[in-house]
Amino acid sequence: MKQTIKIGLFGFGTVGTSVYQVIAKAKNAHAEIRRICVRDIEKPRNAILPDGILTDRPDDIFDDPTINLIVEVVDNSEASYSIVTEALRRGIPVVSGSKAMIASHLPELMELQDRYGTALLYDASSCGSIPVIRNLEEYYDNDLLLEVKGILNGSSNYILSRVFDHGEDYNSALRKAQDLGFAESDPTFDISGIDSLYKLIIITVHALGVYVAPDRVLTYGISTIHDDDIRYAREKRVKIKLVAQVVKVGDSEFTMFVMPEFVDRSRYIYSVDNEYNGVVIRGECYDRQFMFGKGAGGLPTASSILSDVMARRHGYRYEYKKTGYIDTPAYTTDVTLRIYARYAGTDIHAILPFEKVREQYISEQGNYIIGDISLSDLIANRHLLDAPDVFIANIPLFFSDRDD
Ligand code: HSE
Repeated sequence: MKQTIKIGLFGFGTVGTSVYQVIAKAKNAHAEIRRICVRDIEKPRNAILPDGILTDRPDDIFDDPTINLIVEVVDNSEASYSIVTEALRRGIPVVSGSKAMIASHLPELMELQDRYGTALLYDASSCGSIPVIRNLEEYYDNDLLLEVKGILNGSSNYILSRVFDHGEDYNSALRKAQDLGFAESDPTFDISGIDSLYKLIIITVHALGVYVAPDRVLTYGISTIHDDDIRYAREKRVKIKLVAQVVKVGDSEFTMFVMPEFVDRSRYIYSVDNEYNGVVIRGECYDRQFMFGKGAGGLPTASSILSDVMARRHGYRYEYKKTGYIDTPAYTTDVTLRIYARYAGTDIHAILPFEKVREQYISEQGNYIIGDISLSDLIANRHLLDAPDVFIANIPLFFSDRDD
């Protein structure tokens, strides 16, 4: 008989409240929430909770010997880091959804799990309800994996869908994403691509066994998208999606980046709309596989937390097997991308050292260039691309010769 899971929950916002509801519903989980630690115990809450369950003292959870699992869904990276590391040091397993914290500290968190013989599970950190981490960890454990690519952020995808398909105004779509509980408390993380980047960092560890620090990866979001870009995409019969990708280039190297991308209607992710996420896994022998599901929102994220809680009942932990392989591929930025760059006053041609310009359009209303450029040159000039009159998008080249 497996033991009952007695949970100490940190955080009772959108996700924490949903975790409480989902655990109450899931009889087969044999799990119960013993204490909930919040920052402000006096804050009015919608949920009806048993007397005395709320606390604002973390030690009420850490020092409770009956609690055998911590679930951490705190909306603050530093607090999340201190909760998770304290729990691991005390040998208490943790389920967490804090992607920013995990992506920034993963090597240390892996080391703590090893040293204290305990586990940290975090499928909820990446793509909400889609079980992408556990699948990559357990199933794609071979040299065949070529690419993991997709829409990893629900809010920006929701905004792009509303703007692109429904002609809504960008700011009102952003407000709706916030009202619906998809967006981060600071939505800049969603629209700048940073949230997608954190998820991509975590995915890469489980896909290829390599940790790349977030500041080494090109990340460009959708905040400067303009009607001209949408018009251009419509003319070309493509959609613009914010896409994160990690791609093998050759046998011993891989590259990764987050950028808006022109997505052709033949791609799986073309029809991933609203707050949904979609992940394409490509490999030798099996070509492409596709995972699709809700990537944001309280209940979808809580469903993933529940799955990790249940996995703990069976003693599951990530083994990070791929990080120990003799031949892990090396991260490179020495690859050529093809990009669309729209600009007005900023002299994009002078800023970006294109290897080859394939198309250029200049008019009084606006200009664009389509050209080939190395990823390392884009990274070197990344700080010049935040001007409000500039928007860049990737035109996919990898594997285009293989796809019909
Ligand atoms: N703000 C995130 C998103 C929440 O929109 O995808 C889920 O990680």
